[in-house]
Amino acid sequence: MFNNKKNAESSIHLDSDRIPKHIAIIMDGNGRWAKKRHLPRIAGHRQGMETVKTVTMAASKLGVKVLTLYAFSTENWKRPKDEVSFLMGLPVKFFNNFVPELIENNVKVSVMGLIDQLPENTQKAVRDAISQTSKCTGMILNFALNYGSRLDIRLAVQNIASEIKNDAISISDIDDDLISRHLMTGFLGDYADPDLLIRTSGEERISNFLLWQIAYSELVFTDALWPDFDGQTLRQMIFEYQHRNRRFGGLKNE
Ligand code: FPP
Repeated sequence: MFNNKKNAESSIHLDSDRIPKHIAIIMDGNGRWAKKRHLPRIAGHRQGMETVKTVTMAASKLGVKVLTLYAFSTENWKRPKDEVSFLMGLPVKFFNNFVPELIENNVKVSVMGLIDQLPENTQKAVRDAISQTSKCTGMILNFALNYGSRLDIRLAVQNIASEIKNDAISISDIDDDLISRHLMTGFLGDYADPDLLIRTSGEERISNFLLWQIAYSELVFTDALWPDFDGQTLRQMIFEYQHRNRRFGGLKNE
């Protein structure tokens, strides 16, 4: 658990050569943030959307290549109907208001998950944002929307099986790289696996997020509730990451 007050108060020095290329975030704690203020849960989600803007800009300025945000899981449909409907409206609000700034900052939008199951207006907002930012060459802002990692793996297995059945590949072609390319992060190529996975709000679990891809990610947990997370908190998380010794199963001491 990361809770370094000293670093929060002083300016955090980061090694610009070791900024994580791919950061994935489980944005948690919107409901608790709202409850603390005697507000409805959706007020927390609204504020969480503002945090998405702040953190996107901060990550892009730091030189992060891919920022993957877990915005809605395949399990989140179990929430009350009103909350689901509010959450489905957030991408519409976010993109309507924020795409010009994304373009100005050369940020490209991508979305992974079962988009076809989202309400029509959410699908349209997502597809429009993807196409409007398609020429941007800077950071990829990748939303996991109606995403679940077991679903991701199941679909990859099904696709690989049908390619074998159609004689497009053979069983011996299956290796880690082929599996990675069949996952929803496959389009990210060398950046498919997060270097750093952050979860906010003090919870320390993965909740069906990028299970294959985080095999060697550094995991950093913070007590900060997502709506309170900001550019400074992001720097703290990267500071923690930069002080880890990534060995990838070997003995390397960087
Ligand atoms: C988990 O907090 C958060 C979510 C399920 C929704 C996350 C969505 C956002 C932060 C906004 C996304 C913005 C865009 C642009 C798509 P929780 O509600 O489970 O919090 P709790 O554990 O405190 O109840």
